[in-house]
Amino acid sequence: MKILIDEGTIKKRVAEIAKLVALEFNGQPITVVGVLTGCLIFVADLVRQLDIPVRICFVRASSYRGETTVPGDLNIDASMLPDIHDRNILLVDDILDSGHTLSKLKKYLGEKGCRSIRTAVLLRKLGRQEHPIEPDYCGFEIPDKFVVGYGLDYNDEYRNLPYIGELN
Ligand code: IMP
Ligand code: MG
Repeated sequence: MKILIDEGTIKKRVAEIAKLVALEFNGQPITVVGVLTGCLIFVADLVRQLDIPVRICFVRASSYRGETTVPGDLNIDASMLPDIHDRNILLVDDILDSGHTLSKLKKYLGEKGCRSIRTAVLLRKLGRQEHPIEPDYCGFEIPDKFVVGYGLDYNDEYRNLPYIGELN
């Protein structure tokens, strides 16, 4: 496994993002909505650095793209989502690839009547985006490689690695 981003570098960047989020919300409470399962570690580290009142909840999203490049429908499981009416939302995912997941989820949450919605991703793969969405917070831009660790998986494995590695 080739290490792309080491543990210390991630830690530093997550702390920077937390500072920027806290600065933007300026003491107002936010609801962090994590996209399972990849967000797991990022959300856990981010919220512990956030110096504002935080609620945490999760949604699950899966797309059926298979081997084709045709973007399939996004299946959203929001059964764990509380009432987000009038709340400031920070939608958190592990990686922005085609942008399908984040753009669809942002639209979905927006229709639930939240007050505001911001998006944060740990990683953004360059040259892959098909859906127009600009994340408000992004940890690192990476080349078009399949990566694992720090929540990201291959066949549900490697999520526990403390670094971002390039799978070969
Ligand atoms: P998008 O909808 O194409 O932006 O895909 C985002 C989702 O695809 C992420 O939430 C990940 O679960 C998954 N994904 C995309 N690229 C990778 C990768 O390199 N490693 C692991 N998961 C990935
Ligand atoms: Mg995911």
